[in-house]
Amino acid sequence: MKEVKKLKKIGLYIHIPFCYKKCSYCDFISFKYNDQNIDQYVKALLKEIELYSSRLKKYKVKTLFIGGGTPSALTIDKMDTIVNKLYKSLSIESGIEFSVESNPGTLTKEKLEGYLKIGVNRLSIGLQSFNDRILNSIGRIHSKEIFLRNYHTARDVGFDNINIDLMYGLPGQSLSDWKDTLEKVIELRPEHISAYALKIEEGTRFYDLYLQNKLHLADEEEEREMYHYTIETLNKQGIVQYEISNFAKEDYECEHNLIYWNNEEFLGLGLAAHSYLNFCRFANTNNFEEYINLLNNGKLPVSTKENKSREDEIFETMFLGLRLTKGVNVNKFKKRFRLNPLEIYKYKLDKMIKLGLITVDENSIRLTRYGMDVSNQVFLEFIPE
Ligand SMILES: C[S@@+](CC[C@H](N)C(=O)[O-])C[C@H]1O[C@@H](n2cnc3c(N)ncnc32)[C@H](O)[C@@H]1O
Ligand code: SF4
Repeated sequence: MKEVKKLKKIGLYIHIPFCYKKCSYCDFISFKYNDQNIDQYVKALLKEIELYSSRLKKYKVKTLFIGGGTPSALTIDKMDTIVNKLYKSLSIESGIEFSVESNPGTLTKEKLEGYLKIGVNRLSIGLQSFNDRILNSIGRIHSKEIFLRNYHTARDVGFDNINIDLMYGLPGQSLSDWKDTLEKVIELRPEHISAYALKIEEGTRFYDLYLQNKLHLADEEEEREMYHYTIETLNKQGIVQYEISNFAKEDYECEHNLIYWNNEEFLGLGLAAHSYLNFCRFANTNNFEEYINLLNNGKLPVSTKENKSREDEIFETMFLGLRLTKGVNVNKFKKRFRLNPLEIYKYKLDKMIKLGLITVDENSIRLTRYGMDVSNQVFLEFIPE
């Protein structure tokens, strides 16, 4: 009898690199919304999907995530075309988590209804703050009213899994501003909240202002206070922290992002998208013209490739897993690598336990609260020598 091989399961990410306007803090790859660029881009993306249809025969998609940039900047027709092509060309499990990122300043009732029709079942909305003064000062294109209107419309049309993105440590944001944002967001009962500490990224408007000493940022202690307040307040409300910056009601953790943190395989399509398949991390070009030209010539737009050694994989599984509050699962680690992490990292773990950065029990290795505060330093400890 012919042996039936099980298909490997992967996450699929699609990047939409357009925004109506660049926010002052953001260095994500995105360009100003423009019909002509979008037409060219969608055509190229369809070709990229086509090129993968024969290459992905051994894989089945288990989560779908359309991110950006601002996917909701696209018309529903364009989204429909992309999603149709995905379903025609790739093997996609039915009923999977399908997320779309949106900016409230680009949403309409028609788009929201359209998303449901094409199978989107998880909506992520970027709010950042519930304070109009702050929204304006960070370059957002929407007010809190516009956000609220779209949030309620999303609920009315039938979305029952909504994430809200928030940011703290913003210029001119006090602890009481942040508490107010959290309180208003909790009243809306979203299933998921991502709360990010502002990072000043090179090449952004905020970076220039920072260099000129013109940004009034919270100091480290205030920022930590905002973070700890977030964890305690959301946990009490049943929106429980499951990753350094992510909180969810029970069973609403983002399955797609869990693929990254569990160091599992995923494919990213679109400008600058990253992938991890077959022990190889690779990334598409972030040059718009190059992306379009390569695909017009029937070539994949991959610009960097890095084969991962077993040591790399072990290290990445450790530091990605430590981002999760559940930590690294010792049994899963043993099964995957045939190595006991409690033994191979014994010396390092003992040191970090003494410093109060890590706790260990029979089946997990986790960061402590203090460890989460200084997580980047802890991750460095696991780099192979
Ligand atoms: C792709 S955007 C979300 C969707 C949509 N573009 C929007 O902004 O509403 C991803 C999220 O990353 C976060 N983010 C972007 N740049 C950041 C930075 N420099 N520091 C912290 N968080 C950042 C924001 O919360 C933002 O909502
Ligand atoms: S935060 Fe969102 S809307 Fe703002 S520039 Fe970045 S991707 Fe675009």
